[in-house]
Amino acid sequence: MTDRPTPDPVPTGIELTPLDAAFRADPYPALARVRAEEPVHHDQVINRWILTRPDDVERVLRDRALSVDPRKANEGTFMRIFERFQELSMLFQDPPDHTRLRSLVSRAFTPRAVERLAPRIREIADELLASVAGRPRFDAIEAFAGPFPVIVIAEMLGIDPADRQDFKRWSDAQAMSLNPLLTDEEQAAVQASDDELGAYLERVIAARRAAPRDDLISALIAVEESGDQLTDAEIVSMCELLLAAGNVTTTDLIGNGLWLLLRHPDQLQKLRDDPALIPNAVEEILRFESPVLQTARIAMRDMEVGGCPIGRGESIVASLAAANRDPDATPGADCFDVARADVRHHSFGGGAHFCLGAPLARLEAHIGLAAVLERFPHLRLGDEPLEWRALPGFRGLARLWVHADPA
Ligand code: HEM
Repeated sequence: MTDRPTPDPVPTGIELTPLDAAFRADPYPALARVRAEEPVHHDQVINRWILTRPDDVERVLRDRALSVDPRKANEGTFMRIFERFQELSMLFQDPPDHTRLRSLVSRAFTPRAVERLAPRIREIADELLASVAGRPRFDAIEAFAGPFPVIVIAEMLGIDPADRQDFKRWSDAQAMSLNPLLTDEEQAAVQASDDELGAYLERVIAARRAAPRDDLISALIAVEESGDQLTDAEIVSMCELLLAAGNVTTTDLIGNGLWLLLRHPDQLQKLRDDPALIPNAVEEILRFESPVLQTARIAMRDMEVGGCPIGRGESIVASLAAANRDPDATPGADCFDVARADVRHHSFGGGAHFCLGAPLARLEAHIGLAAVLERFPHLRLGDEPLEWRALPGFRGLARLWVHADPA
């Protein structure tokens, strides 16, 4: 591992720490200043390089010589998260292990398998929204955006509806496993929940081995490539990854989207007038308020990005959010425009780890937003102060109070 020469402090004095309350409330002004003044920035607080320009972000995410395995990073420079998840998840594995797992799981988790679910996803959205119909005011995260993706993935996996409550609890804990700021007590709670979920999934896998059904767990058992198959432990880890990577992010896509539309009534009206614009609006929501702010890589050799020397073992944060708002790549990037032509964003990452669940996330957002707009013609924002969840690297609302009755 090389010694890195101490870089000059950022001229603006900005530290892009996710712990900062102002940054959490609105990261974009700080990201814009860094992108303009020092696009490849060494953050002194978190001891990592931060890339803010789209070209640098894409280049680093596509560079197969970089690693995602935290054990290969210099001590103290890569976020430590729930250990077991980090060790087993393909999100943190390099080739050849990553290539093998990704290739096997992609045979079961296909865009066609996702598309087939569309009618059932619409039913799930309608059932959830029916439960708040008639209420003048409700929290759209608790009532809808939170449970919606959890129920969809539970059904996809083939989880018994009777176990849904437990599954929601386990799934919430999986999302927590990505939080590097957990106290010891919270770590222990995540561990306990992880053990319960693991034991539960093992039982489901055994049952599906004996009697396969038309569900994702049976499909993961059946996948085979050149005689290679997934082991039970790998299927358990894969299911846990789908919950951790897919649920909070999709909740946030729908939550951030509703919030943006309610804050921009002219844009909301465009969607009400022309619902065919919803898929384009979802891309613009992904660009404008990405649920995943950043992802990380580790330099495996001394390298240079944007004229800055990055040493072997150093951690690099690709700021997807900063790249999404680059005014050179997107004219009027700080303007939310659901009819924008050719929306470009980096919110699903890039390269070998590009989000496996992107087709599912998009489908859920299309269906979910359409269902909300149809059912609630008078929807408007509540007056409650906004509360952004304190999950570093992610961006989503803890609550979103809305009024459903006419003003
Ligand atoms: C709006 C919702 C979502 C966003 C913004 C999102 C974003 C991302 C990003 C940025 C990555 C890449 C991380 C990296 O390159 O380091 C990723 C990976 C991944 N996502 Fe998503 N995701 C979303 C929804 C989902 C869903 C619904 C699922 C599945 C149910 C899912 C499963 C995965 C998996 C398995 C990976 C790891 C891929 C790999 O390592 O090869 N995601 N996601």
